[in-house]
Amino acid sequence: MMKFLGSKTLETDRLILRKIKIDDAKIAFNNWCNSDLVDKYVLWKKHPNVETTIKQYEKWIEEYNDEKTFRWIVELKDTHNLIGTIDVSNRFIKHGSCEIGYCYSDKSWNKGYATEALKAVIKYLFEECEAELVNAEFMENNPASGKVMEKAGMKFEGRLRSRVIDKNNIRNDLLCYSITKDEYFNSNN
Ligand SMILES: CC(C)(COP(=O)(O)OP(=O)(O)OC[C@H]1O[C@@H](n2cnc3c(N)ncnc32)[C@H](O)[C@@H]1OP(=O)(O)O)[C@@H](O)C(=O)NCCC(=O)NCCS
Repeated sequence: MMKFLGSKTLETDRLILRKIKIDDAKIAFNNWCNSDLVDKYVLWKKHPNVETTIKQYEKWIEEYNDEKTFRWIVELKDTHNLIGTIDVSNRFIKHGSCEIGYCYSDKSWNKGYATEALKAVIKYLFEECEAELVNAEFMENNPASGKVMEKAGMKFEGRLRSRVIDKNNIRNDLLCYSITKDEYFNSNN
């Protein structure tokens, strides 16, 4: 049975993953929630104003009361700038299956941060929370996200055909990646 240990602070070489605070909303709005570039690759709409981000963050902070919530904001250790968020959907979490989602500021792309954070969350979910499986999905228009999943040790498991509509009104397949507990513990993590 998976252990629900919450969004404990996790540290990597360059990052701190910690619980969201309400004061983070303004920076999140400026850095990624209001970004046109980010908007291209996510299914939610970019936030039109900071109040939208504040409202979302109030709800997310409230959700920390539910033991099944895993959601971190990602902070750079050296500058303390905030660069994104990573979380686990609770859809199949009772089954020990953790579906990850993440989103980063375009100013911090291609520096390995998303991979570093994903690896830390995978490690925590398997080693401390005793998860059975970690999975994630990305839209076909977003190969960089697939790269992140691969670099974090996940394997391609299939394609959900024509599942979603992207911001250009084009239907996209969803590509699914995962790593099982056995794969994780048999690799050199
Ligand atoms: C996708 C995203 C998470 C990647 O974050 P990141 O911090 O840049 O990721 P990393 O630096 O760890 O790795 C990115 C990899 O993708 C590669 N990449 C970048 N653009 C690419 C493209 N157009 N095609 C293929 N690979 C690409 C990079 O070269 C890098 O791989 P490498 O290390 O082998 O060179 C980030 O761009 C993002 O948040 N996008 C908007 C929201 C989003 O897409 N969320 C995920 C939804 S599933």
